[in-house]
Amino acid sequence: MSKLISLLLALFVIRTTVVILNFIAEYRFEYLQKEATADFFQKTYESLQKLSIERLISEKGGEYISKILSDGEMAGIVVSGFLPSILLNLLRFLVVIAVLVYLNPILGIISVIFIPFYFFVFKKYSKGIIESSQEERISYANVLESLKEKIEGLPIAIFYKQENFLIKKFLFDIKEWLKNIRKVIFNMKAYTASYSYLSAIFPLVIFGVGAVLVSIGRTDIGTMIAFYLYSENLFEPLSNFSKNLGAFSQVIPPFSRVLTIIETTYTAPDGTRTLRELKSISLNGLTVKYGDKEVLDNINLKLDFINNVNIAIVGYSGSGKSTLVRFLSGYFDSERCLINDVPITAYSKKSLRKYILLVSNTDFIFGMTVRENLSMGENFSEEEMEYALKLCGLNFGREFLNTKVGEGGKALSTGERQRLALARAILRKPTLLILDEALSGVDAETENVIFKNIKAIIPNLIVISHRLSTVLQCREIYVLDKGKIAAIGTHEELLASCSTYRDIIKEQLIENRNNDVSAKA
Ligand SMILES: Nc1ncnc2c1ncn2[C@@H]1O[C@H](COP(=O)(O)OP(=O)(O)OP(=O)(O)O)[C@@H](O)[C@H]1O
Ligand SMILES: [Mg+2]
Repeated sequence: MSKLISLLLALFVIRTTVVILNFIAEYRFEYLQKEATADFFQKTYESLQKLSIERLISEKGGEYISKILSDGEMAGIVVSGFLPSILLNLLRFLVVIAVLVYLNPILGIISVIFIPFYFFVFKKYSKGIIESSQEERISYANVLESLKEKIEGLPIAIFYKQENFLIKKFLFDIKEWLKNIRKVIFNMKAYTASYSYLSAIFPLVIFGVGAVLVSIGRTDIGTMIAFYLYSENLFEPLSNFSKNLGAFSQVIPPFSRVLTIIETTYTAPDGTRTLRELKSISLNGLTVKYGDKEVLDNINLKLDFINNVNIAIVGYSGSGKSTLVRFLSGYFDSERCLINDVPITAYSKKSLRKYILLVSNTDFIFGMTVRENLSMGENFSEEEMEYALKLCGLNFGREFLNTKVGEGGKALSTGERQRLALARAILRKPTLLILDEALSGVDAETENVIFKNIKAIIPNLIVISHRLSTVLQCREIYVLDKGKIAAIGTHEELLASCSTYRDIIKEQLIENRNNDVSAKA
């Protein structure tokens, strides 16, 4: 009796321990899996930070989000469960084969002959699975991109009472995705059906061969039945193995999409030279194309900083002004842009940023405090930050530094947002500041005052502005026309010699007159 009780007790302890250990193991495994996914998100985002700006902005935002969140998670989960499962099934498979060969060597060898059939089935379907999964991932990225756009654009659609317009567009993208999902599911299920069919048929073959062996007296019926029953255990690991291979094929596309981020890390190597003095910037036959469209056509120029540079760039909308200054500032990289006669790509970006900054009217404002938008993690004193804000006409006292500006700066007016972006650059006191319509959202009078403030503290300025009053404050004016520099000179010189400049000025003068009229009204 006491033996029975101690046996029961031992069983109770063993079973309880197994449940507890199982709970801990499963909890740890699942948590580790999520932790690995989170780590993966971080690593991929870090890789994203090493891309060139040009590449970064050429791809859709939804594409990156789907790569990092969806593709990354999908690939991570399957792969993390994949290895243990493969090892387990391989082990089971080897043990079963050994037992079968022990039971009956002939039947054992026949069982092994079935293995290539599974690989044949896999080979037949894997291409289709990979291709359809690839298309599915692309269309899923489109759905995310589309959703992002349809949410951001919803206020304007509601205002125009055209919500249906967006629904229809969104539905189109969803349907495209569903169509591709259907292909993936079809391929996966056809593959599953095929290997399951093999697993259902082969035991019958074994049974048949076994029966023949019994009839010719090569084995006894007991061994044959034991063999048949045991052989069932052979096909389960084979099926699991096939299932893993299928799942693996399905995650190849998400995996390789994620790798496109990680691999391209090396497309934007940072230079090793440290810029210590800004002597000159030149463009050496810079031609820029967007698709087939030529935006800059063999631009050659040299700016010497021996005397202070003070340039306005004017030109019709679409003439290439923004593109030009993006290359001049190193926002976009080109071997054809030289700093002190050395390609800009040779310099470390960090050292370049101490000397050259570009501010445009669409510069990003983070949904953080004014202080964080200004410092972006660097150390500046409150006095410095307040002073920079003041120069930009944001005289709201020190408390303003702690103001949260809302997502994308939506709690600020357009002009305030632009001035905050400008203060961010001024705070860093660059040797050369390039402004691309940086103050288009403020009134002409305010732009004038801010521009004067900037001129007093920043030694070199290049300005793109549609305001004549700002252009007139610059010593030299570059006229850009259809991607070429049409003329360079002072306002008076260009009025006398350049018809394009006269036309541009005429239009801007009209704009100014209108402003004057509205100002007086
Ligand atoms: N990412 C892009 N993809 C395709 N085309 C582009 C892209 N960026 C600019 N373009 C085209 O390049 C041309 C020059 O653009 P850019 O922004 O340099 O002109 P801009 O002179 O600054 O015009 P604006 O005065 O209107 O700001 C435009 O015709 C524009 O359509
Ligand atoms: Mg522009």
